[in-house]
Amino acid sequence: VTTNGGDQDLTLQILHAVGQQPDIQTSDTFPNAPSTDIKAALDRLSSRSMIEYEQHTAEEIALTAEGRQIADEGSHEFKVWDAVRQQGRLSLKDPALASKSAKIGQGKAFALKWVKKDGENLVPIADAAEDSTRQVLIHVQQHKMFPDPKQLKDFQKRQLVATQKVITYSARKGPRWALEIPVEVTDLTAEMLADGSWKTANFKPYNFQALGEPQMAGSLHPLGKVREEFRKILFNMGFTEMPTGRFVDTGFWNFDALFVPQQHPARDLQDTFYVSDPPSAGPPGPDPVADAALTEMEASSFTVDPSKNTNNAASTPQPLNYEQYSANIKQVHQDGAFGSIGYRYPYADAETRRLVLRTHTTAVSAYCLHRLAANPRPCKYFSIDRVFRNESVDATHLAEFHQVEGVLADYDLTLGGLQAFMAKFFGAMGLTDLKFKPAYNPYTEPSMEIFAYHHGLKKLVEIGNSGMFRPEMLLAMGLPEGLRCYGFGLSLERPTMIKYGIKNIRELLGHKVDLGFIESNAAVRLDRE
Ligand code: PHE
Repeated sequence: VTTNGGDQDLTLQILHAVGQQPDIQTSDTFPNAPSTDIKAALDRLSSRSMIEYEQHTAEEIALTAEGRQIADEGSHEFKVWDAVRQQGRLSLKDPALASKSAKIGQGKAFALKWVKKDGENLVPIADAAEDSTRQVLIHVQQHKMFPDPKQLKDFQKRQLVATQKVITYSARKGPRWALEIPVEVTDLTAEMLADGSWKTANFKPYNFQALGEPQMAGSLHPLGKVREEFRKILFNMGFTEMPTGRFVDTGFWNFDALFVPQQHPARDLQDTFYVSDPPSAGPPGPDPVADAALTEMEASSFTVDPSKNTNNAASTPQPLNYEQYSANIKQVHQDGAFGSIGYRYPYADAETRRLVLRTHTTAVSAYCLHRLAANPRPCKYFSIDRVFRNESVDATHLAEFHQVEGVLADYDLTLGGLQAFMAKFFGAMGLTDLKFKPAYNPYTEPSMEIFAYHHGLKKLVEIGNSGMFRPEMLLAMGLPEGLRCYGFGLSLERPTMIKYGIKNIRELLGHKVDLGFIESNAAVRLDRE
């Protein structure tokens, strides 16, 4: 707290005053100091025990503006009498008698027998008049008290005086009184402890009422926080993060490589956003940006256990053959291959090159998995990023949302292994007693929806989708026979909404988000329901 010079003076004056007199009334000692300044100075001194003080509330009689005017100039009746007396006679039409106060004054002057009417004129009766109204008001002005309580009502009714509340203080020396405010110590130092000066130091008292300044700062979005939770769990389980920068992908990676038939309703304009300019890309090939990121991340991760790599030939990476891979995919769709009987429809190459806003992160997983053909080995990959669907927006659906997805490749994987993995993964999120329900994905067989019991909602809720990737998907990529692969996916929004108690997804993402909500929700959740 900074005190200006004026307050500083007042505090010193109070110290002096209480030093000279056992008890002071601030209204008497400092009649002109504003009461807020007095209070600040008293607080400053009493918080240091230099004085003690009490506050008193009293009622005081004070003059109104009209009362002050009368105290200065005389009462209305006196002014009328005075004017008539000076003139000898005064016409009733004289402008001096026109005002409202002059009319009141006339009436009173008649009643007091100071003046009388003489035809159209006023003439004086009394030679001298005592203006008792003015005298009473002057007395009130000087003493703040009414001389004759019987008259008070009348003066109040005439609105010449009014009562008002006044706050006054009485003050006296405190145990630490001195003529000056001593320097206060704000920090206890090692030196003070060593030399014992802490014993006599004048410590500044703590102000427990002080509020901190609200800090303008960035805050983490709930989706970002839950995303971090998932990332930590997956990193701890030995996963590597896939590069998910490609929001725009081709029909090949998003659909064809995953055996979504070209005439499948999911590929309709109603379900998928297609890019119109440019509408299509070249044939499937490597993505240098994603490849560089993956190479770097794999080099720094612990996922690769060389002893598990039974494919000795793969110690030198083989070049990937995209022409062969594209032809394999076409063949599986059109005629069947790698043990699949195919969909048996004419496959359009143009469809494969169409640019789409990716509808699921499985497009990223397909891309990352096919790279394993260069050097087949076990791996655990995950991604958490945005996907786009041309949906009608409602309380639980947006046209864009986030998916958490993982793929695990290893030799001789089984469905039981997938279930055990899911139990471990969701167990880390606090979700136990999982239930699995057969489902369908064009790229996995078998496929399972995953359910967990929600203690808040008291029912089973779907928490994810999963499956074993089809052999024709992995073999078409050029991966070896024995290498199997699981995958799973879930939305990031759903667990976030449950954890943060949000009912409408639009409160979480998009232009309707209340920034106050983002700023005020806890930085860390301690619940693990
Ligand atoms: N892509 C699936 C979805 O959008 C999730 C999934 C990923 C399922 C991988 C199986 C394997 O729901």
